[in-house]
Amino acid sequence: MIQDTFIIEEKPVKLPTVRREVLLNPGPATTTDSVKYAQVCPDICPREKEFGDVMEWICGELSLMAGKPGRVETVLFGGSGTAADEVMISSCVPDGAKLLIIDNGAYGERFAKIAAVYKLNFEVYKSSGFAPLDCEAVKAKLLAEGFTHCALVYHETTTGLLNPAPELCRFCHERGITAIVDAVSAFAAIPIDMDEDGFDFMASTSNKNIQGMAGVGFVFCRKEALEKTAAYPMRNYYLNLWDQYAHFMKTRQTRFTPPVQSLYALRQAIIETKSEGIENRYARYVSCWDILVKAVKKLGLSMLVPEAVQSKLITAIIEPASPDYSFEALHDLARAKGFTIYPGKLSGANTFRIANIGDIRPNEMAAFTTLLEEYMRSIGQGKGAAE
Ligand SMILES: Cc1ncc(COP(=O)(O)O)c(C=O)c1O
Repeated sequence: MIQDTFIIEEKPVKLPTVRREVLLNPGPATTTDSVKYAQVCPDICPREKEFGDVMEWICGELSLMAGKPGRVETVLFGGSGTAADEVMISSCVPDGAKLLIIDNGAYGERFAKIAAVYKLNFEVYKSSGFAPLDCEAVKAKLLAEGFTHCALVYHETTTGLLNPAPELCRFCHERGITAIVDAVSAFAAIPIDMDEDGFDFMASTSNKNIQGMAGVGFVFCRKEALEKTAAYPMRNYYLNLWDQYAHFMKTRQTRFTPPVQSLYALRQAIIETKSEGIENRYARYVSCWDILVKAVKKLGLSMLVPEAVQSKLITAIIEPASPDYSFEALHDLARAKGFTIYPGKLSGANTFRIANIGDIRPNEMAAFTTLLEEYMRSIGQGKGAAE
């Protein structure tokens, strides 16, 4: 195996490279070898101060990626993105509140399912999974019907639709409506400042744009909004925001066993995110997206979401009409060459989805598009287009 030098915890280490797999599914995303290797570390009891320091550093650095110094608290949970979403819905809406959930994809719908489980007083604002959200209509509804809380998904990974979360949340903030945002697939690619964007609570996870391993869910909180939750009912145990926060502040420990190795990987992923910079990361992602979209257009394929409201982080491509098309065949062809692609999801259209998040490079996306072209031409798609 090839020996390579990785910078782990800022020290050079010689290690074999890991077989390269490029994940074009929307997370868990491709990671660097240095993130993978950061998990190989001495055993440690997570109740040791040394590990508390690691978690405190992680929380501090994540907070700085979501707002100005001193403005945001990050609370970590062992769990996936859905756990972080469930923390927000169950812990941030007091009794007597009225919650509006915007559903324009699978993750908005999931918010509503969680709210129903907790029997919250909520209503769903259903909108198209691919057309832009009518922000003015949502604002009017929020005011006319006296909602106190509003929950939405920043980037609907279902289709790649980017919702106008800052515009809507700033509106909410000015009117005292608490804004709850699922930024699971937006954070660490799209620059966010929770104060400027009006977000009160925001969820994300270790395995998407931050480019770490799965296993850590995080809830970012504007300080004043978090303080209020101390008095809210405790509707669950493991996923309670205030309990987790207060315990960590007192002890520098999580209440329950944390995903130790995923946290070491997350520390490395944060170091690498800081070194690349979130804006540069998004620029790299967009370079990959540009290559993909050029190939899609050349093949005469269409995208589900209008370009103006696409996140440029994942693209839902409408399947070709040819009866010879098979997602499985395309998947298997790509998989054999080290690329994993993903089927479409919901929103009433037959699509397949290509994500361009994670540690992927433009040359890798170019190699994938060569395969895509090869497959599409084999079923007669893109005939007449320049070879
Ligand atoms: C926007 C969004 N929210 C929530 C989730 C759920 O995350 P998980 O599958 O890690 O629970 C995802 C996963 O893709 C997502 O994209």
